[in-house]
Formats: sequence, C-alpha cells, structure tokens
Amino acid sequence: MCGIVGYVGNKEKKEIILDGLQELEYRGYDSAGIATIKGDKLNNFKAIGKLKNLREKTKDFSSDGFGVSIGHTRWATHGKPTELNAHPHRGKYSYVVHNGIIENYQALKSELQNDGIEFLSQTDTETIVHLFEKHYAQKSDPFSAFELTIERLEGAYATLLISEVAPDTIFFAKNGSPMLIGFDGEEIYFASSDTPIIGKATEVCYLQDGEYGYAKDGEVILFDASGVKNIQKQPLATDKAMAQKDGYRFFMEKEIYEQSSVISDTMIGRIMDDSIVFDELDDSLFEGINAIKICACGTSYHAALTSSYLFERISKMRCDIEIASEFRYKEPLLDEKTLFITISQSGETADTLEALKMAKRAGLKSLSICNVDNSSIVRESDCAILTRAGIEKGVASTKAFATQTMVLWMLSLYIVDKHSIITDEAKAIEIEAMRRTPKALAITEKLHGKLHRLSKRYLHGHGFFFIGRDIFYPLALEGALKLKEISYLHAEGYPAGEMKHGPIALADSELFTIALMPKSMHYDKIKSNVEELSARDATILAISPEPFELADDFVQTLQSSHPMLEFFEMMVVTQILALEISVRLGNDVDMPRNLAKSVTVE
Ligand code: AGP
Repeated sequence: MCGIVGYVGNKEKKEIILDGLQELEYRGYDSAGIATIKGDKLNNFKAIGKLKNLREKTKDFSSDGFGVSIGHTRWATHGKPTELNAHPHRGKYSYVVHNGIIENYQALKSELQNDGIEFLSQTDTETIVHLFEKHYAQKSDPFSAFELTIERLEGAYATLLISEVAPDTIFFAKNGSPMLIGFDGEEIYFASSDTPIIGKATEVCYLQDGEYGYAKDGEVILFDASGVKNIQKQPLATDKAMAQKDGYRFFMEKEIYEQSSVISDTMIGRIMDDSIVFDELDDSLFEGINAIKICACGTSYHAALTSSYLFERISKMRCDIEIASEFRYKEPLLDEKTLFITISQSGETADTLEALKMAKRAGLKSLSICNVDNSSIVRESDCAILTRAGIEKGVASTKAFATQTMVLWMLSLYIVDKHSIITDEAKAIEIEAMRRTPKALAITEKLHGKLHRLSKRYLHGHGFFFIGRDIFYPLALEGALKLKEISYLHAEGYPAGEMKHGPIALADSELFTIALMPKSMHYDKIKSNVEELSARDATILAISPEPFELADDFVQTLQSSHPMLEFFEMMVVTQILALEISVRLGNDVDMPRNLAKSVTVE
C-alpha cells in the first residue's frame, strides 16, 4: 500500500513531508520521494529503499517560506522498485504522486506516446502527469486540465499533483484509495491516513470516492460529479498507534477487514469482460507446458492446495502441490514440461526459495506469486504476479492468503484461454463469481458479534478438528493453522471423508469440530460426515448457509451458487473465530509466541 503526504503553507516543507512519510512506514514500501515548489523553484528527490536514504539525499535541502510539497512511499505494483519508478513522477513542469492502480493506463500511455511523450518509468502513475500537461497545453487553465485528467482515469487512485503553472496550488483527487485533508488555520495537509498529520492538523476531512479539487491560499475547493461541495470537517484523532491500525485492535483484525478492498486491487486491470489478463506474463510462458507443480509453506501452501482443485477442474491442467521443506530433500522427478510455481507472501521463505532454485537447476520454467516485489523469490523467478495485498503486519497471514487464492483462481481461467476449452458460459460464471468476491469478504457487525460471543465456548477442550471437502479441505487446514498460531490451542484440518478412518476415535463432547458445510459443493456428503461425529457426542460448530439441526453452534453464511464465494465467506468466519478466541485467551494476536513473519532460515 503506497503512502502519500502533501502540504501547502508557510512552514518548512521537507521535514513535514519526510516526517509524514515516516509515519506511513508501517504500510510497507520499497522507495520514496519528495517534490517541492517554492516561488518558481521546483525540487525533486527520490531514493530506493528506506526513508533514511531519502533523508541522506535531502540533507542539504530545505524549503522555508510559502510553497507546496508532495511526498510518497511506494509499494510496487507496476514496475520494479527503482529510482525511476519511485514517485513523484515528473512531466515537463509538474509532479504527481499516486496510490492505487490506473486500470486503463496502457491505453492512456499509448495515446501519450503517440503524441511524442517519452516515459521514464514502467508505472501506471506517470500517465497522470503527462495527461495533465497535455490538457494544460490545450486549456491553459491548470484546474480545468486537472479536471479533464481525472475524468479519464479508470481504476483506483488517491493522487496529488503540483505544477510550475500553479506554484501555490496542490491538486487532489480520490477514488478507491484512501486520502484525507488536514487543516490547521491556513496550513493544509494531505495524507493517506491520519498518522502523518496527528500533532500538526486539528481538523480533518476524509475524502469520499469521486471527490477532487485544489488547495490554494489557505483554503480547499472541493468538487464531485455534481459540482462544488462543502467540506465536512471533524476533529482529528490524537492516538497514532490506534491510527496506524485505523481504529482496529490489531493489525490482523484490520487486515481481515481489508480483504474485501485489497481483493479488488488484486483483480484491477486483470479481469476483462470475458477473459483474464496478466500484463506480467509473456504469452510463451505456458508453451510446451502440460502440468503445474506448486511449492510453498504454511498458509501459502494452503492457497496452493486450494488452487490444485481449480487448475484440474477449470484449466484441465494436471497440478500437484509440494511442501517446500519436504520437496527439497525428496529427490523429486522433475519434467521440463512442468511449470514450477512458488507462492510466498514475503518472497523470502528459505525453504521455498531453495525449492525454486532446485527446479530452475532442473530446467523448469518458474512463476512466483508474491506480495513483495523485488524479493528474493521474485528475483529468482522467470516471472512473477504480485498479489497487491499491501504490507501484511499480522504474523498470522490473512489478506495474503485471500489474494494468493484469487490470483491462482484467475490464473486457472487465464490458462483456459491458452490451453483448454471451456464454454464461454462456464468462463462467464467464473468471472462473475470473481467480481462478487469483495462482497463475500465483507464482514457485518452481526457476524463479528456472533463469533465474539461464540468464542467463549472454545477456550478449552482437547482439540479442534476443522473439516471440509474439496476446496474446503485446504480451507479447513488454513482455519486450523490460524487458530493454532494465535490461540496456541491444538487444531487439525482434515478431509471430512477421512474422519471415519481413525480420527473419529477422538470424538467426545470435548472435541470441537468446526464443520465447513457449503451448499454449493458436496453438501449431503459433508452433512453425513458431521452426523457421524455428532452421533458420537462431538461438539459441532457448523458453518453453512443451511441450518444444521445437529449443530451445537451454528454460523449462517450466505447461499451462493459458486463454491469459491462460499470459500471466501467461510474463510472470514474461521479467521475471526481464531482472532476472538485468541483475544479471550489474552494472547498477542499480531506477534504470536515462537513465530516470525518471514521464515528466512531452514
Ligand atoms: C501463516 O499464517 C504463517 N505466518 C506461515 O505459515 C506462513 O504462511 C509461511 O511461513 C509462509 O510464508 P510466506 O508466504 O512468506 O512464504
């Protein structure tokens, strides 16, 4: 998730911007930059890596007196983390910073290149500043040029633009990505979230989608599609720690709630009306490929296992899954007709990285699905698809899992266009379900409240079984892992049909079974598995659209025609259940004992 800070006023600007960006470090980034206009003087500095590198570059720079300034920390979505790709991006006489994804940037970039514009970066953001200058050349009015520019952008953006043609003005627009405006008398601040302006501004206006305008002469003029709007100000929060969590109790809780929005980022620019597009992939990737092998650890392994059902069912592509730490030492038989896919949130997991190197030595093509650009696994792979989940601070992975699963689901359909025929209708059903996923991930207060109340019953016992069939079996594994990681209670994920082959011996009232019972897939089969457990007095928490009379506890989910929508909805239920049990046990939800966010050792 990129971070944006802006300021227009009489104070020294560099420190305001750099201190503000420092407050956004928790969002994760790989490069940073600042641009300032004072009088007719335009200054711009950029650096890859941490903010200390940018501070080093600007140590002899200062900007006192009235002026405007914008700054940015970049989390790469288009283009590697390089100084050229770092924001602010420059035109001839203007600078822009942006958080989000411009879905139609390719078309805009081609138009501008046909006008003779030379792009310096690989980013979607650079199109904004060149488009502004193109329209200014036609209109000679900065705000009209900015307004025209914004009208042409599709996708998610929070953007600030400054220009020598309006040296006392910051232009802003918000759609899909967060942006707020802070006020302290005539001093005006912009930021992606509260923390950069806490202690500086006294009032705040949280911009809504479709709002845009400019800040000049100590005031902000705000517009939306229907014209000029009144600014809705409110007192600014004062607790920075709480602000970083955007008011949630834990980063993990925030990241569970973020899933509904970040999954949209994962899909932006990749889901067309009737096909899937991955700009990152060369058409030749699947040439000569007749099988897929996916290798990962932990939660990423569960995403891999989920996708194996999708690749074989949708893409008709053979797919097998490996736990990286096992794969490394099993002397695997590897075939160059197999595409080797690694999945990793951090991109630094030692076992996964070493497995990837083994596959490459054997001559296999490699693709990584990762959340961190320029990470070791991304750099080692022939190509990579970024999940765009933004930084994940909770050690127990949530939004990374959701976005990995979405990328793999999209990839299964992408392969269809390359390698096998399914009907257009079948493809349309998948794409429609993907588009409805953000809604399936939305969390109601009623659901969270119910899980909070239920959690008090599950603080003891001699263990949990999470059971499911088909794609709900890897989801059961993931639900069990979430619970283990943050509650320290023992839990197992198990194929529901396997319980009768031994584990049912454990069934008694102290054995808690979390049963994933989707209506859209094998419902009667899972129902009979759960009835076998209930008959032996196991305590059942059923998660299903259909009330289940034998359940001791029941969480009702929405009826959906597509199993993946039930998958994502039930995933959220298991994540929140684990969170609420952990809270009741008084554990450190974000930093559970014995765990690290990235396991870079064997
Ligand atoms: C998941 O909640 C855990 N934190 C852990 O299993 C993690 O998924 C695993 O270590 C793999 O990490 P990676 O995705 O960064 O490779």
